[in-house]
Amino acid sequence: MLRKKSILAIALTASAWALLCSLGETFAEESGPTSVENFALLDHEGKFHELDYYCRMPSAKGVVLFIQGNGCPLVQKRIPELKRLKEEYEAKGILFAMLNANIQDERAEIAAEAKEFGINMPILKDDAQLVAERLGVTRTAEAFLIDSKSKEVVYRGAIDDRMTYQKEKPEAGNLYLRDAIEALIAGEQIAVRTSDSPGCKVALPEKDQLITYADHVAPILKSRCVACHTQGGLGPFAMSSYKKVKGWSDMIAEVLMTRQMPPWHADPEYGKFANDCGISPEETRTLVSWVDAGCPKGEGEDILVGYNPPAPKWHLGEPQKVIALPEQVIEAEGVFDYRYVTLDNPFDGDVWLTATEIRPGNTRVVHHVIVTAVHPEVNRLEKWVTGYAPGTEGSLYPEGSAVMVPKGWKFKFQLHYTASGKHETDMTTLGLHYTTTPVEKEFKTKIVMTRDFKIPPGAYEYGTEKDFTVKSDTTVYALNPHMHYRGKRMSFEAEYPDGRKEVLLSVPNYNFNWQRTYHPATPVEIPSGTKIVVRNAWDNSDLNPHNPDPNREVGWGDQTFEEMFFATIGYIEKN
Ligand code: HEC
Repeated sequence: MLRKKSILAIALTASAWALLCSLGETFAEESGPTSVENFALLDHEGKFHELDYYCRMPSAKGVVLFIQGNGCPLVQKRIPELKRLKEEYEAKGILFAMLNANIQDERAEIAAEAKEFGINMPILKDDAQLVAERLGVTRTAEAFLIDSKSKEVVYRGAIDDRMTYQKEKPEAGNLYLRDAIEALIAGEQIAVRTSDSPGCKVALPEKDQLITYADHVAPILKSRCVACHTQGGLGPFAMSSYKKVKGWSDMIAEVLMTRQMPPWHADPEYGKFANDCGISPEETRTLVSWVDAGCPKGEGEDILVGYNPPAPKWHLGEPQKVIALPEQVIEAEGVFDYRYVTLDNPFDGDVWLTATEIRPGNTRVVHHVIVTAVHPEVNRLEKWVTGYAPGTEGSLYPEGSAVMVPKGWKFKFQLHYTASGKHETDMTTLGLHYTTTPVEKEFKTKIVMTRDFKIPPGAYEYGTEKDFTVKSDTTVYALNPHMHYRGKRMSFEAEYPDGRKEVLLSVPNYNFNWQRTYHPATPVEIPSGTKIVVRNAWDNSDLNPHNPDPNREVGWGDQTFEEMFFATIGYIEKN
């Protein structure tokens, strides 16, 4: 891990000094080789990129990361040469990306500059400035060459010596980056490993304050993580004291740097969601900087000791009717097919469900549950009722609306279990809040799906899209992307009748383990005639750690080793 000299500027307490001194290689030489820890960032188009993913590509030899910043002439003037290098070396296993760590540059502005200068590589937005900080970035226009095997920075500095602050030479005398790339590809010693690199200053936050567990870290964990990472919670370990958190600290930094946790996968650039449980770049920064500084404890009481947020039995209050599933037995090991259990309707007439909540019996094994109402005789006549996935807290349908379940229709449960390593049982229940007086507005769920795809074996990225046109004025309350293990991303875009386009939701790093429904904070008004386009991509390569078989062509299927393109939209029609 790279620990910067600037750390010295912090006013350290005696105990923090002791900690740092015990860390041995703490102060890496600025110019010497340092290795880069894995990270994941979104680029100027909202696409997700993880460093390790690229480094694991069989053809990969190295990654060039060029520090970009909008409006910096020293960056702009280097773009043609960088593009030439990309052209020449990409096929030889060198990947090219830019990194923007400027707090002042918004994504749309970066995208505009990318377009203006014809930048044909991802510009990664380092919103927490942590990648830049760990690399020791101070100025733009610097290039980093990372060996994809060792993850070492084998060269950092200027692309060549053509430019200084004072003057620009017509020809470069030293082709530093090119020479380093050539040597890396040839497996030879790199002669010049650093050079002075003129660029515009990148404003990184002052490190004038010591970040401590007691003052800064515990409160963030308490609000962002402990709801799950508690005794008996969803998370695999409890953040129940300084000692526990410190023990997990490197993993915490890793899951934050790679955006695995907290499990909220919507791109913050599009839409605001009522159930947003994401973390801000500033909070991420605080947590990771604290880990990088060796986890100083600070003074005062440990607010996580004895704190065990109550998991309410029912998030939406005691239901009027509870439907219990028969006990399910789950083997200790294996990958299980979906189970289907159909239960009789306990009501003697039509009912209008105003809220529903699935309570998993055993969170260690319940992966997801989907409940539909099915016609007692007509095959495939089916109506969406509700769903559960880790993190779901019940569905409260909007005021004055309900899901209507006709008399006699049965409740069908789709159950997906995952093995826990030991024999388990589960008794999941469905809680219903309802009325028997007709509710005017029906809360409906539109399914946007296509079976029309064949994902080629090994494809890193293969996508399709499906659209439909809304036939009456509608209000959208919920969006849910669904694919299986090969799912990579999914987005929902509205193309309004006036030609305006709006991305309602983008999930750039879809994770099958988190079947989330996204509830817009302000329901979205969709006028009649709007086209909704759902786009996706799958990753059928062996770099996708969840891929059950990268050598297969994959089409539609219920089983998780087959694929789906299945999005749902919860809405109410205006009239
Ligand atoms: C909604 C529940 C939830 C929240 C909120 C949550 N986690 Fe997790 N966390 C999990 C679950 C479940 C796992 C197990 C892996 C998985 O399913 O993705 C996990 C795994 C982890 C792991 C990795 C354990 C391992 O060995 O792989 C770390 C570290 C972690 N979480 C840290 C955090 C941090 C830090 C936060 C807050 C910023 C957080 N989590 C918020 C549920 C949650």
